[in-house]
Amino acid sequence: MSAIRQLCASCGRDSPDTDPHTRCAHCGGLLAIEYPAPLLAGPALRAVFDARLGVRRGSLASGVWRFTEVVLPGAGEHVLSYPEGNTPLLASRAVAAWAGVDDLLLKHEGHNPTGSFKDRGMTVGVTQARRLAMRAVACASTGNTGASLAAYAALAGLPALVLVPRGQVALGKLAQLLAYGARTLLVRGNFDRCLELADEASERLGVYLLNSVNPFRLEGQKTIVLELLQQLGWQPPAWIVLPAGNLGNTAAFGKALEEACRWRLIARLPRLAAIQAAGAAPFALSFRDGFAQRHRVEPHTVATAINIGNPASYDRAVRAIQGTNGVVTTVTDDELLEAKAVVDAAGIGCEPASAAAVAGARRLGREGVIGRGEHVVAVLTGHLLKDPESVTQYQEREPPPPHANRPVEIDARLAEVERVMSARPR
Ligand code: F0G
Repeated sequence: MSAIRQLCASCGRDSPDTDPHTRCAHCGGLLAIEYPAPLLAGPALRAVFDARLGVRRGSLASGVWRFTEVVLPGAGEHVLSYPEGNTPLLASRAVAAWAGVDDLLLKHEGHNPTGSFKDRGMTVGVTQARRLAMRAVACASTGNTGASLAAYAALAGLPALVLVPRGQVALGKLAQLLAYGARTLLVRGNFDRCLELADEASERLGVYLLNSVNPFRLEGQKTIVLELLQQLGWQPPAWIVLPAGNLGNTAAFGKALEEACRWRLIARLPRLAAIQAAGAAPFALSFRDGFAQRHRVEPHTVATAINIGNPASYDRAVRAIQGTNGVVTTVTDDELLEAKAVVDAAGIGCEPASAAAVAGARRLGREGVIGRGEHVVAVLTGHLLKDPESVTQYQEREPPPPHANRPVEIDARLAEVERVMSARPR
């Protein structure tokens, strides 16, 4: 019997890790996982994690399960791993120059198996579904969670149900849902409505809900932070900047940092900067009034991944920002699309929501919140190919936007190629 507990953040009741409710069964509050303190701490625990960097096979080769003592100790034979994680930390002069942040690194979570950070939470969530012998799994999604759920459910041989807002899911994600075989419902309503429906349906149908309200998801997503700290030799950056929508990741980052300090993996807390699209910024509104109240908005942004008006992990994310002396800010659609064009043209590439992190770093730099010389890690949450239409739409805008790169149609003659090549480069 493992000693992992699920603790309700609202009423304080706790339940064993075998309880399949994804919210508190008493008050409906959000749950947090509490696991036994690892046997080691500080340099000894770091050494355990570092020694596994050479592991090539089995679950310890995963960038999630490498940290198993602080993720889901005792998952044992139930672990379902792709493997995932082990994503690169990239430097780009062009991106740093555009952002005006000299020491900027990009943690590229688009390099996960299904192209987004969701795989880190999903490996733990589907592992937990197997521990509980659940018969089916479900989620609401703006696309990436669903794509990840669909893939991991297929690996596990479990049926998957995914609810997405009709007409608001990027093409690459929709293709993944269908290809991996999820039962895909195109809901006439926005993401917030999809989530309410998924919550109700999963309870009624006895299907295991794997949205980030599920606390096991967050345990996996903590490893984005743990892995980047490890890649930096456990020398924390001054800032970690991430895009924020439903706020699961912001909550997971806060928990990871708090625990990394508690287990003495790091000696100093980085500050979190959560970036929202201006048209879908209820969390930024709350931050502005000192978190005096929770806001709900009707969301409108081109970054469909974060087109969310009533984020589920609000309370947890408030704690993450307050606990790290963090900040929340917004960027406009034009700013995040320009950031995306810069990241793309640097050969790195990301989806629009991810670029909000880079645009946010620039904004915070300009406002003097982030110092020019401070060490910043921005998290690119999803791959460029998730949303190919956003690229073509941007390139076709009139007047041509910064970094526009339009294709040129020609007749099939060498002279035509020469004519184009000798024209003034744009
Ligand atoms: N970036 C990408 C690419 C995302 O897909 C998401 C969320 C976020 C950032 C924001 O993370 O919700 O934890 O604050 N996508 C969810 C989904 C909502 O259904 O795929 P968050």
